[in-house]
Amino acid sequence: MPGFELFGDEERKEVQDVLDTGVLFRYGFDTARQGHWKARTFESELAARLGAAHCHLVSSGTAALNVALAACGVGAGDEVIIPPFTFVATFEAILAAGAVPVFAEIDSTLCLDPKDLEPKLTARTKAVIAVHMCGAMARIDDIAAFCTRKGLVLIEDTCQSVGATYKGKALGTFGQMGCFSFDPVKTITCGEGGAVITDDADRYALAHAYADHGHDHVGNDRGAEGHPIVGYNYRISELNAAVGIAQLRKLDAILARQRANKNTLKTAMAEFPQIHFRTLPDAAGDSATFLSFMLPDEAQARQTAQELNKAGADGCFYYYDNNWHYLRQWHHLKKMHTAARLPAQLWDYCPDYSRIGLPRSDDIISRTISMQIKLSWTPEQIAQRITAIRNVLG
Ligand SMILES: Cc1ncc(COP(=O)(O)O)c(C=O)c1O
Repeated sequence: MPGFELFGDEERKEVQDVLDTGVLFRYGFDTARQGHWKARTFESELAARLGAAHCHLVSSGTAALNVALAACGVGAGDEVIIPPFTFVATFEAILAAGAVPVFAEIDSTLCLDPKDLEPKLTARTKAVIAVHMCGAMARIDDIAAFCTRKGLVLIEDTCQSVGATYKGKALGTFGQMGCFSFDPVKTITCGEGGAVITDDADRYALAHAYADHGHDHVGNDRGAEGHPIVGYNYRISELNAAVGIAQLRKLDAILARQRANKNTLKTAMAEFPQIHFRTLPDAAGDSATFLSFMLPDEAQARQTAQELNKAGADGCFYYYDNNWHYLRQWHHLKKMHTAARLPAQLWDYCPDYSRIGLPRSDDIISRTISMQIKLSWTPEQIAQRITAIRNVLG
């Protein structure tokens, strides 16, 4: 998962360019910046790498979700279907938009089960956010087909899966907008940063304006620009974008190393009959940030995760007990505790999240362990890890 393991002279050079000019702001200062447009460069290279017509950088993956919801017209009272296995940012962004998170079951892909979308549909459903968890894809073609059939907006939360593909097409390009994160633990990182991508010029223009106080960015004189819409400040700085450029140029090398490391571990673990690997709708497109597998029951999974971490196979996450990634421990959402004063009607629209029943998701996540794949492992460290795994599972 972590691109920070490969920080080097490439990142230093890009950052130095910015420090040498003194221009940390992504807009304007045309002469002083001496031709260095780090945010713009990152945007055009990321759009080209992912095969999207447009890309706009923002300050985080959470900001990307906020901007995507706004640019897709999702707001007050709308319902947005999401999985219960994600990161808290997914439901936070929906609530911040004045909309209502509606949870649908996941399946053995660890992502939304397309079969549970129809039962969650109401007259107020406006959008689906498909979250590509732990480096790999949801059944995105089925989800996209459902959204098209029902006239719903599809946003992809691809924060954990940059570089992953489904049948050769980049995740993040199947719906109206794809969202990415470059926070400190992501596949490529720039400290804090995010991006939205889209093929739709109008949504791109809205996203660009919304992320910068509604500026239309027409012409070079920032003081004279129009404000067609009200927006916020979700801008990225040139320093962050500079690091991101260097990291993006390493993405293919990162993916190759992750895939090789994961493949070695997966092959070794295939000998244990008690394990079932996560379903990958297209294994070739997996970005391989994690190796996720299921044990027969909750007790064995919880105990195995503890034993693996102790035995030297560290970085094994048991998400069922984790309060960032799975609904069970989201007590703040269940009590609707928030510092913001959300629109009054939102309380009427939202279900009682403490009573949401998602038995199939509970069953799957309670049996799942996700092992983080690192870039810096040496062959000896991988061999030691396999020995540790055999000691625990054998
Ligand atoms: C699935 C998912 N969505 C959104 C985010 C939010 O990204 P950020 O930390 O850049 O705000 C994350 C971050 O972990 C994530 O994993």
